[in-house]
Amino acid sequence: MTVSVIVPAAGSGTRLGQSKPKAFVDLGGRTILEACVAGIVEAAVADTVVVVVPADLVDDARRLVPATTVVAGGAHRSESVRAGIDAAGPDSDILLVHDAARPLTPPAVFTRVVDAVRAGHPAVVPGLPVADTLKQVDPSTGPERVVATVDRDLLRAIQTPQGFARDALLRAHADDTGLATDDAGLAERCGIEVHVVPGDPLAMKITTPWDLRIARDIVAEGSP
Ligand code: C5P
Repeated sequence: MTVSVIVPAAGSGTRLGQSKPKAFVDLGGRTILEACVAGIVEAAVADTVVVVVPADLVDDARRLVPATTVVAGGAHRSESVRAGIDAAGPDSDILLVHDAARPLTPPAVFTRVVDAVRAGHPAVVPGLPVADTLKQVDPSTGPERVVATVDRDLLRAIQTPQGFARDALLRAHADDTGLATDDAGLAERCGIEVHVVPGDPLAMKITTPWDLRIARDIVAEGSP
C-alpha cells in the first residue's frame, strides 16, 4: 500500500507572534518545517511527502526540504490540505495529514496511525486523555458563565498525523463547510467512523510563544 503524508504548513502563525510564518521559525538550528519533515522520514512510513506552504515561500521550502513535493496552500487549512491531496496524486492508498506545527511527533505515533488504517479503519487520529477539568461556558456574558462541567473521561485531545483511506479523505473534503479545524472533523460530518489511537505529549502543537519555548527547550535538552 502506498502511503503519502501531506504537511499543511501554509498558516500565517499569527498567534506565535514571529515575523515569519510558523513553519519557517527556528527550532534549535533548523526550521519547524525541516524538523517536521525529518520526523516523518524517521518514522519511515511514507512513500511520498507533500508540503503545503504559503505561495510566496514555495521556493524557500523547496530549498529547505528538497526530498518533498512542495505546493502552495490556500486561505484556510482545509484548502491547503486539498492542494496537498491533489499533489499526492491518485496512487496513494493511505493519506496522512500532519500539521507542520507538530514537529516533535515521535515515530511510534505515525506507526500506530498507519497500522490502524491498514487494519481497515477508514479514519484514525491520535489522541490523549485530558488532564484539566473542562467547563462549557456562555461567552456572551462577562465574566463568562459556566453552563456545564463536561465529563473529561470521555474526551480526548486530538493530534496529528491523522490517517485516512484515500476514498475517505476525498469524501470528507468533498463536503467541506469551511468550519472544521481538522480533517477527521470533516470525515465525521459525512458519516465516516473515526477511531482514536494513543497520541503522545511530544506531538504537541506549537501555536503560542509558550509552546515554542517548550519545544525549543525539549530540542535543546537533546533527543526528545
Ligand atoms: O491554524 P492552525 O494552528 O490550526 O494550523 C494547523 C496547521 O495547518 C499548521 O501547520 C498551519 O501551517 C496549517 N495551515 C495551512 N493553511 C492555512 C492555515 C493553516 O496549511 N491556510
